Amino acid sequence: MCIEHTPLIVTREGLPADFDRYFEEGFAALGQESRHMRFFTPVHDLPEPVLQRLRDIDGTINGAIIAFDAALRDDDTHPEGKPVGVARWMGSANGPPELSVTVIDEYQGRGVGSRMMDAMLVLGRKRGVRRMIADVLRENVPMRALINRYRAVVQPSGDPRIVRYRIDL
Ligand SMILES: CC(C)(COP(=O)(O)OP(=O)(O)OC[C@H]1O[C@@H](n2cnc3c(N)ncnc32)[C@H](O)[C@@H]1OP(=O)(O)O)[C@@H](O)C(=O)NCCC(=O)NCCS
Repeated sequence: MCIEHTPLIVTREGLPADFDRYFEEGFAALGQESRHMRFFTPVHDLPEPVLQRLRDIDGTINGAIIAFDAALRDDDTHPEGKPVGVARWMGSANGPPELSVTVIDEYQGRGVGSRMMDAMLVLGRKRGVRRMIADVLRENVPMRALINRYRAVVQPSGDPRIVRYRIDL
């Protein structure tokens, strides 16, 4: 589906309340291909432990940036605009936090992912994060193009389907 207006993309730090408010809507706006790229399987519903992990946002161990299209504000459901993407870092017991970026299908390829990535790295650094990793499916050309802009270093992933990147903040 094409957007017929000029989007006005704004980003801010994401909070647990954003998950409650916007997750379902955002997930519904991801096609099979996007779900496959993000979750490594074209999931229909996410299992409860994954949902809990996604909701866990404390701004330090687990941080988030959310993007809205402020051109589509409405007072009832979208006071800041339509939610169009989220970038996350999620703490791991085994190493640096893992990052991910997700943009709803309609808004992909318009620079939203890059904007969120910039904002997330700035926020992460402010919160004391010095390194992040990203596991990306080998065929995920848009994400690999995005991450390559950040002087990411490829590391062994242990899985031939996955390219693991390390970014030093
Ligand atoms: C990957 C993703 C986050 C990128 O966000 P985006 O807003 O679409 O990307 P941007 O518009 O900021 O562009 C980022 C780069 O990808 C390239 N790109 C975007 N869409 C592309 C496409 N369909 N094919 C090839 N390259 C593409 C852009 O040209 C840009 O590269 P450049 O800097 O070399 O020009 C987004 O496409 C997405 O959410 N995909 C599904 C979920 C996913 O794969 N998440 C990553 C999991 S780790």
